Amino acid sequence: MPPTDLPHPRFARLYLRAAPGAEERGARQHRQRLLAGAAGQVVELGAGQGLNFPHYPTTVTEVLAIEPEPTLRAEAERVASEVAVAVTLIAGVADALPAADDSADVVVTSLVLCSVPNQARALAEIRRVLRPGGELRFYEHVIASHQPLRALFKAADRSGLWPAVAGGCHLSRDTVGAIEQAGFTVTSLERFGFAPARFQPAVPHALGIARPA
Ligand SMILES: C[S@@+](CC[C@H](N)C(=O)[O-])C[C@H]1O[C@@H](n2cnc3c(N)ncnc32)[C@H](O)[C@@H]1O
Repeated sequence: MPPTDLPHPRFARLYLRAAPGAEERGARQHRQRLLAGAAGQVVELGAGQGLNFPHYPTTVTEVLAIEPEPTLRAEAERVASEVAVAVTLIAGVADALPAADDSADVVVTSLVLCSVPNQARALAEIRRVLRPGGELRFYEHVIASHQPLRALFKAADRSGLWPAVAGGCHLSRDTVGAIEQAGFTVTSLERFGFAPARFQPAVPHALGIARPA
């Protein structure tokens, strides 16, 4: 079994400091679009400090939120105690989700599939826990289709510098392609550029819904 705690205290502090600015610049609206219409039992993978929790609609019965980083998980516990939806937080990783087969109506990933060590493995786990007819709702930054950003992002990933600073994040992943390769059909997809901070370039993002084919 992989470890369930992955401490990245420096990244956690950075993310806690940077997130409010990103929410103000538009991430909050992205989260609202991500979760609008979600219903039933939800598994949220890599929930961070719980930025999605206030946006779950009342049609969601429970959120099982999985987060391996202890500092972020502690903050998520605090947020969970203040929202209307019932949230249960668990330490765990994408490679071995602590959830039963066919137990989720919805699996949510936001800004997480960039960071998991093995996307194919994480997506296989998501398929395992989704009940037949369930949905994967994703909001992820993805590889740029245009130069020079594409080459720059690939170089940042290859150098190992960006993943080291950003808690394992990769800038050059074709996450929508990986979702399709994992046997999902993407039924809704929005692509847009988003700069989470003032002096950052707009990074390509994908927000959508996929169902096991
Ligand atoms: C950029 S943060 C996003 C947090 C949150 N989902 C959000 O939308 O703000 C990336 C998250 O992925 C989590 N993460 C990193 N590696 C993971 C893994 N192997 N399994 C599950 N989550 C992981 C991190 O701890 C962190 O909470």
